Amino acid sequence: MHINAPFELILFGGLGDLALRKLMPALYLLNRDGRLPEGAIYAVTRRDMDRDTFVNKIRKSVESHVDSSCLERPVLEDFLNKVHCFTLDVNDAAGYQALAATLSSNDVNRLFYMATGSDLYTPVCRGLNDAGLICSQSKIVLEKPIGHDLETAQKINDTVAEFFTEKQIYRIDHYLGKETVQNLMVLRFANSLFESQWNQHYIDHIQITISEQLGVEQRAEFYEHVGAMRDMFQNHLLQLLCITAMEPPVKLEPDAVRDEKVKVLKALKPITGELINEKVVRGQYDSGVADGKPVPRYRDEPGVHAKSLTETFIAAKVEIDNWRWAGVPFYLRTGKRLAERACEIVVQFKEIPHSIFPLQHKNTMANKLIFRLQPDEGVRLMLCEKRVGPGMNVRPMNLSLNPSNQRQTRVPEAYERLLYDALSGNATLFLRDDELLEAWRWVDPIIKHWSEQEQRPEPYTAGTWGPAAATLLLARDGRLWDENS
Ligand code: BG6
Repeated sequence: MHINAPFELILFGGLGDLALRKLMPALYLLNRDGRLPEGAIYAVTRRDMDRDTFVNKIRKSVESHVDSSCLERPVLEDFLNKVHCFTLDVNDAAGYQALAATLSSNDVNRLFYMATGSDLYTPVCRGLNDAGLICSQSKIVLEKPIGHDLETAQKINDTVAEFFTEKQIYRIDHYLGKETVQNLMVLRFANSLFESQWNQHYIDHIQITISEQLGVEQRAEFYEHVGAMRDMFQNHLLQLLCITAMEPPVKLEPDAVRDEKVKVLKALKPITGELINEKVVRGQYDSGVADGKPVPRYRDEPGVHAKSLTETFIAAKVEIDNWRWAGVPFYLRTGKRLAERACEIVVQFKEIPHSIFPLQHKNTMANKLIFRLQPDEGVRLMLCEKRVGPGMNVRPMNLSLNPSNQRQTRVPEAYERLLYDALSGNATLFLRDDELLEAWRWVDPIIKHWSEQEQRPEPYTAGTWGPAAATLLLARDGRLWDENS
């Protein structure tokens, strides 16, 4: 698929954190690689800004977030010529009329990108519609979290559906655009070797970790409202679980892939009532040391309420009620201010039933397949081999599944891939309406329970792996988090 020219990308939240840190750099890289055809990008913002100040802001965002080896001055200037600032108050009808007068009058490849809170999706859709800006080739990208719970997500889905057909709606989860996630699909569905082992007969359990070293940064206003459950778990972690656990889709096509992901979400064993405290751990960071520097506790971060009950960490034991996964726990965790920045899916195979070698730690020698999404993306298979020399000593060895010739190719950023897919009309890596709702349906009882309890999440020292209860969650099952790989 390629992008139809000319395109128009209208980016709401055009000077926000996401736009400056991820979207503009990704668009620059697409342009640099010759993948953006003729077209224009409009950064929509409330602020009134002259062209020079605006261009300097975008230039700075690209320079600070794109690897210096990819920065080429003439290419950057060419990109900046494609970018325009458009001032608009989303509640003012006249603003949309002015936007209509600026955009082309033809039915062009037009993508509206909502890099804003989801409370703005409804007024923006209405405004666009009233100004006649939605045409047959228009598409809309919705950033997560969409809604605050099942009910609000449903309302947003319904309102957006009044103006766009489901095929025109792209619900983005940028973790699905990460290189290793695509590779996970290829390794699973292009090799009979792994797929035949991919079930409860051979797999002991699966761990999915997204750990960040960063704290809440400048986003307290947003984060206080969402917490780790809505920011990371309901979307990124559950999506990674779906890709890991889904049945082979019949085709690599949007609905075929999404049908399988929805089945996984529907098969998640509900966690309700008493089970919530047993299976889900909430944490909030205290002061500590991150990246060698002392850092304040969450409650002392600028913009955070002094008695905030917002969680910055979650760990959960999730089970899937189907034939493939019965009895195989998925341990999921995510948190801010953890020991390191990493994202990994660890598939832990069962230990051998009987050893004829002098294996001292039968369980630590069990095979493991590790998908590392970041940093240093790649896939490793942990096997056992004979230690060279006399005797029959066995030792673990890591087989890297990333040949060195592949490592020289630049790994595209997740947003590069997803922006390209949305502009070219490929929705395979985007969520469908029912998928979004199923994820909320599973999460809803947990967030409702927490909001009724009004308890402070368990504190943990910044720079560690989270609260002790998260270690206990696995220890109770005789397992450990995989933290040394
Ligand atoms: C975003 C969350 O979706 O993902 C942020 O809102 C988080 O809180 C970010 O920091 C992490 O993304 P990445 O790609 O840097 O791991």
